[in-house]
This record gives sequence, C-alpha cells and structure tokens, in this order.
Amino acid sequence: MTKRVAILISGGGSNMVALAQSMVGDHPARPVLVLSNDPDAGGLAKAADLGITTAVVDHRSFHNDRSAFEAELNASLEVSQPDIICLAGFMRILTADFTARWDGRMLNIHPSLLPKYKGLHTHARALDAGDSEHGCTVHQVTAALDGGPILGQARIAVHADDTADTLAARLLPMEHALYPAVLRRFARGDMTPVMLP
Ligand code: GRF
Repeated sequence: MTKRVAILISGGGSNMVALAQSMVGDHPARPVLVLSNDPDAGGLAKAADLGITTAVVDHRSFHNDRSAFEAELNASLEVSQPDIICLAGFMRILTADFTARWDGRMLNIHPSLLPKYKGLHTHARALDAGDSEHGCTVHQVTAALDGGPILGQARIAVHADDTADTLAARLLPMEHALYPAVLRRFARGDMTPVMLP
C-alpha cells in the first residue's frame, strides 16, 4: 500500500524538493501535501510546480497559542490523511500533544550529528568546538527536541577555512541524499539506520 507523505516546511524547501522528487517509480510513498507555517515560504511555489497540493497555516495568526495553531495544523493534515509526516526545514517547535498524536509516523532532518548540537546554529557550534567532522541526522520526532530515535546520518569533513555558511552549503546536498534514503526505508517499515557516506 503506497504511503501518503505530508511535508512541513518553513522556507526554501530544498529538502522537500529532494523528498518529492525521490518518491517515484517503485518508491513505496508519494507526497500528498506540502504545508508551511509561513505563507511566504519559497518552497510552496516549488511544491505547486511539482503538482503537490499545498496549504498554509500561518502561526502568526495564532499569536502564541501553540495548541490552537496545532489544532489547525491537524485539521489541514486530516484532509490529506498522511501516513507519514516529514519535517523539512520546519522551524516551529511542536508540543508533546502533537508529537504524541503522530508518534512513530513523523520524521525530521537536523543539521548536526545528533546527539551533538540540538537546537539552532549547529554549524557555528561545530566550528567553535573545533570538530573535524560535521553532518546531518534524520530522526523520529518525539516530545524531546531533536531527541527521537536516529534513522540516518551523513557525515562531512570540516575544512580549516570553513565558515558556518560554507559548512551549511556543503552539508545541504548530503541532506538531500540522506532524507530520501531514510524515507524509502521508513516507508517500507525498515528502521535500519542509513549511514552516509
Ligand atoms: C536545512 O539546513 C535543514 O537541515 C534545516 O533547515 C535548513 C533549510 O532546509 N532543517 P530547506 O532548504 O528549507 O529544506
């Protein structure tokens, strides 16, 4: 049975594009929705160009009422009936209620080698720590921020002249390789971690 995938974004959506473009042929999943909390997210136009239904639930309309925002999020998701949710550059913190509702069916990509550098500014923190390698992680989403079971990691070397921007730019293509590889396995019920390279 083909799994239905909703992808949540907040920005450019390069990971969403990589995921959507991977779900072809014998891939066990297909994208059914791209939803953004930001009506100006560049990824919305990219999703529309790919023929994927889009939706916006603008978090600013709910001020700081996270549960009201998430109720609207769930209402929008209910329409598409996803089996799997992929957070892809989605920048809103989700409550324990929301993560519990989608427990075991929601993935996220985080630009660090978790459990290192949970939260923001991961590239700068890796540089500040003098790390010789950096990377990204795809994990299941739980109530613990960036703390769920790891489903895959991709590693890159840190160069002496790297800045946060050059590191992020070199990591992004690895994210675009890792996330689709993890989703293909996850959609088949295979939790074996994907390790790149
Ligand atoms: C990426 O670095 C991703 O790791 C992080 O958000 C950034 C932008 O992602 N979660 P995208 O281009 O919007 O997919």
